[in-house]
Amino acid sequence: MDSILQATKATADANRLRLLRVLSGGPFNVAELTEILGLGQSTVSRHLRILSDAGLVSVRRSGTWAYYSLQAPESNGFSTRLLSLLIEELSSVENGDGARIERVLARRRHATSVFFRDAARDWDRRRDATLGPPTHTERMLELVGEGGTVVDLGTGTGVLLQSLARAADRVIGVDASPEMLEHARRRVRQGDLPNTELRLGAFEHLPLSDGEADAMVANLVLHHVADVPQVLREIRRGLAEGGRLLIAELEEHDHETFWLSLGAQWPGFRPEEIRGWLDAAGFDEVRCERGRREPEGDRPGVFLMEAVLRIA
Ligand SMILES: C[S@@+](CC[C@H](N)C(=O)[O-])C[C@H]1O[C@@H](n2cnc3c(N)ncnc32)[C@H](O)[C@@H]1O
Repeated sequence: MDSILQATKATADANRLRLLRVLSGGPFNVAELTEILGLGQSTVSRHLRILSDAGLVSVRRSGTWAYYSLQAPESNGFSTRLLSLLIEELSSVENGDGARIERVLARRRHATSVFFRDAARDWDRRRDATLGPPTHTERMLELVGEGGTVVDLGTGTGVLLQSLARAADRVIGVDASPEMLEHARRRVRQGDLPNTELRLGAFEHLPLSDGEADAMVANLVLHHVADVPQVLREIRRGLAEGGRLLIAELEEHDHETFWLSLGAQWPGFRPEEIRGWLDAAGFDEVRCERGRREPEGDRPGVFLMEAVLRIA
């Protein structure tokens, strides 16, 4: 009874309702929330504390940063049910928060593109030095299977293209960085991969027609994405019914230097967090293989997720 009372009381405030709606779009830090809501930092922090004490909001700390999100949807407690009801009701309210969220996300996307423009020249070396030898890609390629059109999201310098091209009928590598794609183009030329095509474009507006892909691969890219739920919805658009999405991601970690050296937006993820977003974006049969790489020193672990697009 006490927790029900606390959760309902916590939502009885216009700014806290705005906060809940903003956080339904993904994690934000206090500085970003201050900008979006146009409220002082101490006011935002106070509202966040009330929502978090009521079990409606969770915080993830990484180094000097704290990112706030809605409470993970895995529990079916009162606060989770209250949250989904509120978010549904609030989604039609227009108060300018949406435009300010977009401004914050655009700034994050810009930071990513500047990072990869500068990192492209020696990305392969930097990735191997930071992440170590990949221990999950073989299993990931096995899960992609054979035939069909496969899209490599955030193909970067194209490390996966050769293996994908051997098994698939057609491969499309997508990346927003012309500098990274230049390296991938060289790989495609050298590897003589006639069934492989590269397209410049952002995950937020994929350069794909509706249902063009039978499978998509996101190998260590989601932690660079400003708004993961939106990108998952766009991935759904590009997938054929019953199409599959394979994700390899870093486990949530708090090694700030590691995170910054990779130009990442997020210090990894909890698989349950991605599972909730996948479910909301229309995916089913979500399977997770944790520990594809165990954490080691400053290197976070890697997990694999496989999801199938629900048939409408
Ligand atoms: C970690 S790197 C390359 C990962 C690559 N899949 C691999 O296995 O080496 C991430 C890539 O995602 C691209 N990227 C990041 N955010 C993007 C976005 N919003 N749209 C398209 N590409 C993006 C970057 O340009 C970069 O090439």
